[in-house]
Amino acid sequence: GKVRAPTHIISTISDDRGEEPCYAGVPMSTIIERGYGVGDVISLLWFKRSLPRYCTQFIEICIMLCADHGPCVSGAHNSIVTARAGKDLVSSLVSGLLTIGPRFGGAIDDAARYFKDAYDRGLTPYEFVEGMKKKGIRVPGIGHRIKSRDNRDKRVQLLQKYAHTHFPSVKYMEYAVQVETYTLSKANNLVMNVDGAIGSLFLDLLSGSGMFSKQEIDEIVEIGYLNGLFVLARSIGLIGHTFDQKRLK
Ligand code: ACO
Ligand code: LMR
Repeated sequence: GKVRAPTHIISTISDDRGEEPCYAGVPMSTIIERGYGVGDVISLLWFKRSLPRYCTQFIEICIMLCADHGPCVSGAHNSIVTARAGKDLVSSLVSGLLTIGPRFGGAIDDAARYFKDAYDRGLTPYEFVEGMKKKGIRVPGIGHRIKSRDNRDKRVQLLQKYAHTHFPSVKYMEYAVQVETYTLSKANNLVMNVDGAIGSLFLDLLSGSGMFSKQEIDEIVEIGYLNGLFVLARSIGLIGHTFDQKRLK
């Protein structure tokens, strides 16, 4: 008789078996007809649900604001050097992406983890920051090489303004601001950075939208979805830097 190999792998986000591909059950034609944007596509493929417009717009704002930050940051530097060494687009892109980590763009998940844990346990900013210091861990989402109390990161301000206007609650972000007020009393450059803003505000999006259960939020934070926003966003800039160097020969 027929011998069928048992299924080893299952996938739950997309399906290409019908007449048209579906993202989380939504057919491609619906995505186009309803004028969905990239925020909606991310909602479907990462979170497996359609999120309200203010959430998908927030996701799109994160992507736009983090798309590039000049040629001098780690990722752009690596992509530029790789492109100038004559390598192809994919090599140049991944060489930049591989620098994303705790000191560059990859602190969003840890910021969300630590801010959530501290807020949910009712720690004061003093208890939280001093506790981290005792453990020898830098507060993720705080600190910048160039930005400071008198030279704030415009991206952080834009994200905060959007959330203040559109989110039902910004309790995690307000907690992060209290933490920043305390760290700024220690040093001028210990401002909230863009990773801290996205990490805390995404907690507000997840908990305030009513679209996720407590277990789902814990899983998202534990798995670490949020650095994906920076990886995706910065790919736009790294590809741009690669083309720029090729043009410049
Ligand atoms: N929490 C506590 N103390 C800090 C922090 C922090 N987040 N950041 C800096 N400090 C203090 C430390 O005492 C440090 O002294 P140490 O070297 O003895 O630990 C001192 O400030 C100076 O540190 P530098 O490394 O010189 O600071 P720099 O300005 O170069 O670093 C950086 C900036 C990498 C962002 C740092 O603040 C940090 O590691 N922050 C936490 C991780 C983070 O948020 N990364 C994402 C950055 S945003 C982005 O990349 C898009
Ligand atoms: C960026 O978005 O690339 C920067 O905030 C990172 C940095 O180190 O300046």
